[in-house]
Amino acid sequence: MQKIKSLLKKKSKHKPLVCLTANNVYTAEILDDFCDIVLVGDSLGMVVYGEKNTNKVSLDTMIDHGRAVRKGIKKSILVIDMPKGTYEKSPSLALKNAKKIKKFTKCDALKLEGGSKIFEIIKILVKNKIPVMSHIGLQPQKISNSKNFKVLGKLYNEERKVIKDLKSVENAGSFSVVLESVTENLANKVNKISKIPVIGIGASNKCDGQILVTEDLLGLLSKSPKFAKKYESFRIKIRRAVTKYSKEVKTRKFPSKYNTFR
Ligand code: KIV
Repeated sequence: MQKIKSLLKKKSKHKPLVCLTANNVYTAEILDDFCDIVLVGDSLGMVVYGEKNTNKVSLDTMIDHGRAVRKGIKKSILVIDMPKGTYEKSPSLALKNAKKIKKFTKCDALKLEGGSKIFEIIKILVKNKIPVMSHIGLQPQKISNSKNFKVLGKLYNEERKVIKDLKSVENAGSFSVVLESVTENLANKVNKISKIPVIGIGASNKCDGQILVTEDLLGLLSKSPKFAKKYESFRIKIRRAVTKYSKEVKTRKFPSKYNTFR
């Protein structure tokens, strides 16, 4: 709880929050030195399992990855996504599944996509001492083909909906909110009026914090969205390493005397 309160302090002092996703222990160990929040996002359905969207990710898959990531996290706030179909239908279903994720992963908080429509669901989790991070703007669980991802906020109705969602999740007790794929102008408005930290992804550098999918940042995927800056080109680096290994196996250079027991 203390760690979560520290986020609000950082917002009031305009100190940007660093957030990234992790789905395995070794990535988690590295991120823990840098991140305020490490998210086990259901984007793992796409970046780990090669699905077209996040819709098939199960509760058990999130728990398995959550348990792995937990082992690498000591300082950061560990947030786990509730996958599609595990919370939207009723507050009681949401609470049952939220308790299950918390029990098996020992995460600090859960993330739920949605605004005013899931007001009562957020409220019941918060009432039961389960901290909630919300996710508004573009909500990938509502889109079946990632080709249909769009930027929201160019139309007045879209802007009004995002702001209404922000106020709902704030009033329901969320401790922070991810704002995805909106115009810079709308992101700045949302950030200005929000009482809780706004974590942008495809939003604005004025948001209280930023989050990216780590596989995008590392350049591990063949395609990434425009907003996902590639800080490294690991796809190329892995190919280079595997090419060398393959050559050395074929020419019997590997294993050398340094890699064999005598
Ligand atoms: O699933 C995920 O990784 C996310 C981030 C993109 C915020 O929700």
